[in-house]
Amino acid sequence: MAKHAARGAHQRAAWSSKLGFILAGAASAVGLGNLWRFPTLAAKYGGGTFIFTYFVLAFTFGISLLLLETALGRHTRQSVIGAYSDLRPRWKFLGILSAAVPFIITPYYCIIGGWVVKYLTSYVAEGPASVMADGFFGAFITDPFFTYVFMIIFMLLCIIVVALGVKNGIEKANMVMMPLLLVMAVGISVFVLMQPGALEGAKYYLVPDFSKFSPELVINALGQMFYSLSLAMGIMVTYGSYLDRKESLTTSVASIAGFDLVVSFLAGLMIVPAAFMALGLGEGGTMAAGPSLMFVTLPQVFGGMGGAAQVIGIVFFVLVLFAAATSAISLIEACTSIIQDGTHWSRGASLLACSVFVIAAGCFINAGYNALIWMEPLGPGTQLLDFFDFLSNSVMMPIVALFTCIFVGWVMKPKFIIDEVRVSSKFSLAGLWAIMIKVIAPVLVIAILVANVLPMIFPS
Ligand code: TRP
Repeated sequence: MAKHAARGAHQRAAWSSKLGFILAGAASAVGLGNLWRFPTLAAKYGGGTFIFTYFVLAFTFGISLLLLETALGRHTRQSVIGAYSDLRPRWKFLGILSAAVPFIITPYYCIIGGWVVKYLTSYVAEGPASVMADGFFGAFITDPFFTYVFMIIFMLLCIIVVALGVKNGIEKANMVMMPLLLVMAVGISVFVLMQPGALEGAKYYLVPDFSKFSPELVINALGQMFYSLSLAMGIMVTYGSYLDRKESLTTSVASIAGFDLVVSFLAGLMIVPAAFMALGLGEGGTMAAGPSLMFVTLPQVFGGMGGAAQVIGIVFFVLVLFAAATSAISLIEACTSIIQDGTHWSRGASLLACSVFVIAAGCFINAGYNALIWMEPLGPGTQLLDFFDFLSNSVMMPIVALFTCIFVGWVMKPKFIIDEVRVSSKFSLAGLWAIMIKVIAPVLVIAILVANVLPMIFPS
């Protein structure tokens, strides 16, 4: 009894309103994934074709899983380990597996957050020319001292917000950062589209090229959707557990997915035309993937904008910083809440333990760019960060998602989630939703897993 009370409802943090919950979900969803992964994938897979596929998947499959996780959290009032073990003690392993994901992501996410802080300070202090200089990015990320400093600055900023609490820290920070983020994204997109040659790039981004439709596109869109909506890592279970039972889950998750999609779309609208102008993409052109798109290509594009370069560079990296920070804050909150529920320590002690872990693990992974650069865990040229990114997103997330669907769809049966949703709203698509969770989602997830893992086992 005492044990249960300590973990249970009355001691839990809570959102002050539905808006607080939606913004928190959106804050965890909108992040580096929207700003660089989405535009890269969209450019690679025929622009509009990818956007359309992503849209359909997010509003069927993505929303179904979001609903599942938030309802599970609200039903059990536990973060993810407690949520599963309370329902079926033998399924505790699934809680542990989900809980492990944010512990893997947080440290490396904060390393990239540190890069963003570095770019922002360089734009402010030194101006665009230094950031554009050849080799700036490579020289910085392999720096054996300053990368650690910037990573820790970024982590401390996020830790302070979490330390202020769910209502006074996270909610307030989101209330400020999320609307500003949206305004900046619209502003930069408009500015980029006004540049000469940009409309050509926008056409490339928006007009679907259906010849690029392929199973590979679907797999990539699915993977992106998981990552972007922060699914299968326990975070939405935790956030659901802070939500009042009178607030509608269905409209909340639709708003979260909508916010995420809008920011991804805008990110593509600012980045793809910009890169198009700089590189003359189009036929046969390839776009830099991953970090170099944001950290190398874009500064060059901004550099070509004359006097505006510094302002636009600063606004862009403030935008990226907000996106990265709100996601990192969610990640740290998820880890803290898992530690708290598992140990029954105070929130402060749990946050301290989380911080020590995140800093230590961050330093280790960051060493993959300097002291441990010889490691190359996924083959030549790859670093520890790539390894942990692969492990969390390509292996663990699909496994967790698969077991979650089996657990809810076949072991517990979907009814208990449907009932939870119906406590606060109508749910007329419940039948379809159940089919999604029992059949469609597991099949799609197995496809992702096979596509991601097979090439590792049998390299071509
Ligand atoms: N969704 C975030 C992004 O798009 C990244 C992310 C993945 C995340 N898992 C998370 C953020 C968990 C917060 C919590 O960048």
